[in-house]
Amino acid sequence: MAARNNMRLDKLLSMLGEGTRAQVKEMIRAGRVTVDGAAARDSGMQVDPENSEVCIGGRRLSYKAVRHVMLNKPQNTLTAARDKKQKTVMDLLPPMYAAMGCMPAGRLDKDTEGLLIITSDGQLAHRIISPKKDVSKVYFARVAGTLGDEDIEAFAGGLHIKDSDGEFDAKPAGLEIVSASDGASEVRVRVSEGKYHQVKRMLAACGAPVVYLKREKIGALSLDPALAPGQWREMTEEEAALLEQEAD
Ligand code: URA
Repeated sequence: MAARNNMRLDKLLSMLGEGTRAQVKEMIRAGRVTVDGAAARDSGMQVDPENSEVCIGGRRLSYKAVRHVMLNKPQNTLTAARDKKQKTVMDLLPPMYAAMGCMPAGRLDKDTEGLLIITSDGQLAHRIISPKKDVSKVYFARVAGTLGDEDIEAFAGGLHIKDSDGEFDAKPAGLEIVSASDGASEVRVRVSEGKYHQVKRMLAACGAPVVYLKREKIGALSLDPALAPGQWREMTEEEAALLEQEAD
């Protein structure tokens, strides 16, 4: 019987982004792929991705069972694993990530930009979004409306939200006014829960509807400023450790 984590060689190679199933089968047929030093001829051979030494043309492939991706989510993209009609955040990554079970940790609205973590560690994802863990999220927003000290106090005291989406008492939250001029403000909001349209609803409750929203931080993890909207990279070990600690 195959060991629990074993998988077909062709599946592993295409999961690692080395080509389509047909392309990697051809590489195997051509004798370019070795497993533990011996040429592999059978695309269906079972390999242990974590412990077998798999090379293509002498180049050793690296397999990590757990992947954490930092994405600068662009506008006009759904935070979902898949959608029949609309582009999702998973469409921005090579198919390997979906094949490895990566999912977005939490949700940003279609028109919100910024930091989104996509991870194969479902438990970590759950802990990041759990209100019990109090992992803070920081958003930058441009709003129509002039916000002032009374709004900072209202955020700190816990806003009562009542609108067409329902009613809830928001936990105390941080509001920093970056700039405020007549009829338009730029603010930073720190929340530790993730109710539906939370930040937009909190700002709208202060008479300041959001015109642009971007998530900058999750816990101690900041969006890499080198990532333009739509760009992503794998998180470093230090970043992953930071999140693990935060959501512990
Ligand atoms: N709050 C919102 O209103 N929208 C988001 O996308 C995230 C937080």
